[in-house]
Amino acid sequence: MIDLLIRNFDSASEASASAAGFILKKIKSAGKIKDRVSVVLAGGSAPRQLNTALLCHRGEINADRIDWFFGDERAVEPESPHSNYRMQMETLLGPLEISETRIHRIRGELGAVEAARDYRQKLTEYFSGPTAFDIVILGLGPDGHTASLFPGNPSLSIDDVSVTTSAPAPMKPHVERVTLTFSAINNADTVMFFTGRSGKETVIDRLYSNSAGALETAYPFESVRPKSGPAIWFIYGSEV
Ligand code: 6PG
Repeated sequence: MIDLLIRNFDSASEASASAAGFILKKIKSAGKIKDRVSVVLAGGSAPRQLNTALLCHRGEINADRIDWFFGDERAVEPESPHSNYRMQMETLLGPLEISETRIHRIRGELGAVEAARDYRQKLTEYFSGPTAFDIVILGLGPDGHTASLFPGNPSLSIDDVSVTTSAPAPMKPHVERVTLTFSAINNADTVMFFTGRSGKETVIDRLYSNSAGALETAYPFESVRPKSGPAIWFIYGSEV
């Protein structure tokens, strides 16, 4: 069972191909029961590789029925090289020619507090109730963070709203962030991680001890416990 939840690959391209196929399958199954499918995109650098694989499926992606969201954003302009929105526009949403009306970005240029309020409002209007994404794609940081939920940050314990702010990250860019909360992530139908192993070995090895039933939470990512079932991991780099 654990092999189904944690899929290890030698190369980023193999992991990307597998993860892209998984995402398309989930989009298609969600599309059978609803008109609009909501997908949350990750930030950082790993998504660049995943997006290359997703573009290979462009013929299967019905752009009119998918809404694209973000798991987190830096409090920067959308044109900033630090913007997750810019990265996703350059590597996926632009090449797919996704209409702006289907892209629900976090307006980092407003500053973290106002951007979080704005995004919360967007989600409330979109879901007309609790935030319930169909698919959430997450990355993993070397300190065990995911989205912009960093170790020791008060955002880790906020569970009464779907979006919150995070103090300047301990890693570059050292700017304030806006992030989905664990409650929004854990209310999604499908949650997956896509990450390299390099530099994150200790954090990733924790996955296996977790599966062995470790009790305490050492890293933020361990609070990703979707109600719908365990998150699926796509990990590339040197084998376990
Ligand atoms: C961000 C991301 C962050 C990212 C991890 C992994 O805004 O920085 O959302 O959570 O996913 O830091 O980043 P890499 O993919 O670059 O290792």
